[in-house]
Amino acid sequence: MSVSLPRLAFLGTGKMGGAILRGVRRPGVDVAGIRATTRTEQAAELLRADGVEAQSLEVNPEANAWAVAEADVVILGVKPPYIVDLASSVSDHLADGAVVVSVAAGITTEQIEQVVSQPVVRSMPNTPSQIGQGVTGVAAGSRANSDHLQVVSDVFSQVGDVVVVDEDQINALSAISGSGPAYVFYLAEKLMDLAVAKGFSVDQAKVMVEGTLLGASSLLHQSTDSAEQLRRAVTSPGGTTEQAIGVFDNRDVGGILEEALARAVARAEEMAKGS
Ligand SMILES: NC(=O)c1ccc[n+]([C@@H]2O[C@H](COP(=O)([O-])OP(=O)(O)OC[C@H]3O[C@@H](n4cnc5c(N)ncnc54)[C@H](OP(=O)(O)O)[C@@H]3O)[C@@H](O)[C@H]2O)c1
Repeated sequence: MSVSLPRLAFLGTGKMGGAILRGVRRPGVDVAGIRATTRTEQAAELLRADGVEAQSLEVNPEANAWAVAEADVVILGVKPPYIVDLASSVSDHLADGAVVVSVAAGITTEQIEQVVSQPVVRSMPNTPSQIGQGVTGVAAGSRANSDHLQVVSDVFSQVGDVVVVDEDQINALSAISGSGPAYVFYLAEKLMDLAVAKGFSVDQAKVMVEGTLLGASSLLHQSTDSAEQLRRAVTSPGGTTEQAIGVFDNRDVGGILEEALARAVARAEEMAKGS
């Protein structure tokens, strides 16, 4: 289904901003206009070579003001410590009807609302957005209405699935889907190491581990069965998998995950307070 998006400004097009920018430039996405900015001229040159209207702060210190001047959606894609200063620096140049979107971990809409008068939406994408298979949580600030949430959801839908949540849930969402890819990569690392320790070559281990994670994720996604039903289908009573799952249960992997998520949420709360 083709999608129409209004004029977009990307302030910062690194790993995350760049992933979203690529997503909205795919065939089938109709965008009214895109302007992007970077810190370095080298990064802006790469974007221009790819057909994006881009300027760097290195060459034009007013590049961000230029980018937001006619934008309907302004995506703040810099590192968290710079988000509020960046929002403040463009506040006088934002169009009246613009919505400001932050992708920064740990920065609240309230912090950004203190420096801009436009509606603010907070988002929490994850790294599979780089290949169009991300999950992004979006939460409205106090001035954002359902139309603002819709247009921001339309943008992030170009790089994966979108979950609309209340802002007080965004740290929990971040601990699950934001950090989640790291948990999967961690499991992959451990399985790779074990496979190599059992005498398989690195290439063989990659096929076994990556193929298993991809196949299991795809099966979970495509099947009407729940994760529990799919697990039980592999776990014959008295069989080998049952022994392995028994170790997970004895070590209370559920409790370990619960503690890990609680720590991630606590850290996000600390970051919001500026520590
Ligand atoms: N990476 C993730 O997994 C992830 C996940 C969720 C959320 N996020 C959020 O995404 C944000 C960006 O993270 P990232 O990993 O994408 O960082 P990154 O790769 O370092 O990208 C930062 C970008 O900002 C540009 N930049 C720096 N200062 C600027 C300014 N004043 N005006 C305009 N552009 C400026 C940089 O330009 P140059 O390239 O020229 O230096 C670069 O394009 C963070 O707030 C982070 O919390 C990231």
